[in-house]
Amino acid sequence: MYYGGDYNPEQWPEHVWHDDVALMRRARVNLVTLGVFSWSSLRPAPGRWEFGWLDRVLDLLHDNGIQVNLATPTASPPPWFGRLHPDTLTVTADGARLTHGSRDTYCVSAPAYRDASRELASVLAERYGGHPALAMWHVHNEYGTWCHCDHVAGAFRRWLRARHGDLATLNERWTTAFWSQGYSDWEEIQPPRATQWLPNPSQALDFRRFLSDEMLAHFTEQRDLLRPTGRPVTTNFAFGSWVPVDHWKWAREVDLVAVDDYPTGDLAEESAFVADLARSWAGGKPWILMEQAAGVEYTPRRTLPRPPGDLARTTLIHVERGSIGAMFFQWRASRGGAEQWYHGMVPHAGPDTRTFREIAALGETLAALPPRPAPRPEVSVVWDDEAWWALQNRGLPSRDLDYLEAVKQPHRLLHRAGHHVAFVHPEHDLSPYRLVIVPSLLPISDAALANLAARRGAVLMSFFSAVTDEHLRVRLGGRLPAFGITIKEHRPLAEPLTLSDGTEASLWSEEIALEGAEAVVTYPDGSPALTRFGNTWYLSTRLTDKAYECLLTCLLRRSY
Ligand code: GLA
Repeated sequence: MYYGGDYNPEQWPEHVWHDDVALMRRARVNLVTLGVFSWSSLRPAPGRWEFGWLDRVLDLLHDNGIQVNLATPTASPPPWFGRLHPDTLTVTADGARLTHGSRDTYCVSAPAYRDASRELASVLAERYGGHPALAMWHVHNEYGTWCHCDHVAGAFRRWLRARHGDLATLNERWTTAFWSQGYSDWEEIQPPRATQWLPNPSQALDFRRFLSDEMLAHFTEQRDLLRPTGRPVTTNFAFGSWVPVDHWKWAREVDLVAVDDYPTGDLAEESAFVADLARSWAGGKPWILMEQAAGVEYTPRRTLPRPPGDLARTTLIHVERGSIGAMFFQWRASRGGAEQWYHGMVPHAGPDTRTFREIAALGETLAALPPRPAPRPEVSVVWDDEAWWALQNRGLPSRDLDYLEAVKQPHRLLHRAGHHVAFVHPEHDLSPYRLVIVPSLLPISDAALANLAARRGAVLMSFFSAVTDEHLRVRLGGRLPAFGITIKEHRPLAEPLTLSDGTEASLWSEEIALEGAEAVVTYPDGSPALTRFGNTWYLSTRLTDKAYECLLTCLLRRSY
């Protein structure tokens, strides 16, 4: 079991490093993530490399039995780099070129940035690939930077040519006949920069897909330079609505799936959600909790301390679900800089603190933990990053549609009821599960539709699903033969309604024509709200947690 966190010794005088390793040993830390943001320390000026400090840190850690997850520092180019290559600085959707002074200010499509990234990876591989402290490689940090510059425009067009083949197909798939958006030349196509009014939703979705592939290419270029060292290569996934990463695709390319978990609200439920996603993305490969906060909760307005023992509780949620380690951001809280108020395993007040005592106790607990069998979930929930992105488009019939909540609701209810949950891609093998839940899966490919239709076990699909193809073109007619129904109309709700079983429906409703299915629960006007067709169920509205839990219990007990 790996235990440790991001370690940024370049922020501290060397005598502190000796305190660090002594404290790490006390806390049973055995892995640190080193060098995530150390580009300017490694290469302070264009022609100058400074390896001495890193050599000494690696040796010191090794002498103390601590392994290293060595990062390529490409997530934060130094000021000199942006000055030398201004075309590598991020451009926002409204055309502003950002400047250095923060982090993540790069354009993943800029040739100079890509060259520099490859150079950094190969220099590190050559110098440290054989170091005995090296356990794994950590490429970059939390991929997710959007850029809209001309380099991106060129790369986007190349990606679109490969995806759509010719312009006529692209025009058709993007429905560019609407609002006179027809393209007559590839050069006319732009990344979704600021527009006068609603942008084209298919273009917006394709741009996220492109960004995911483009960043993945940046990752695999570095991975392929690092792999010959024989150590696993990973990158830490961030989880947020802005992150254009298709996790299923990326998980195939990393040697080890790594996730960062910064829960808010019900921390145990949130952590279980992220851990179940990570385990599912890994698909049997190892996975690791790469970052979490040491003893605090970051809420939008304030950092809240967590009650004693809470840190161990959420960490064990990950471990129970198969994480091969528990890592934090960061080892020692920074004295200054933009994240000086972010917590550390060693807080500003030092080791004589509740946080450090809890960290050390957790180190003991993890070291003594016997291996646990991997959970074998009987229920799966469909997770599709593309559906999340599609429901973030503007111009939808309701602004209250929330993909994440639609997915989280059944997950948290199953978690509360003590079930383990797997997430699946809609085109994956669904046969291992007794029940497959498909929440608000707006776009669906023909292959995914056929996959669902071929399923013999129970399926519960919820509202605003399977409405469009993968290009966001509506599947006309609204027929869902596998569910024995046709959706005639979508009717978002302004106010909650009471259903025939006395429970409350909110957010959304649909007019459903029964074509073989039976109505199990109805709206006040007697029309179907929840339908059943053999083993397939369709829920056209949002239920309260209590009512949804009751439905899930019945489906799992097969008692309907
Ligand atoms: C992210 C980043 C870290 C740090 C933490 C702060 O997970 O990867 O570099 O910014 O958040 O909690």
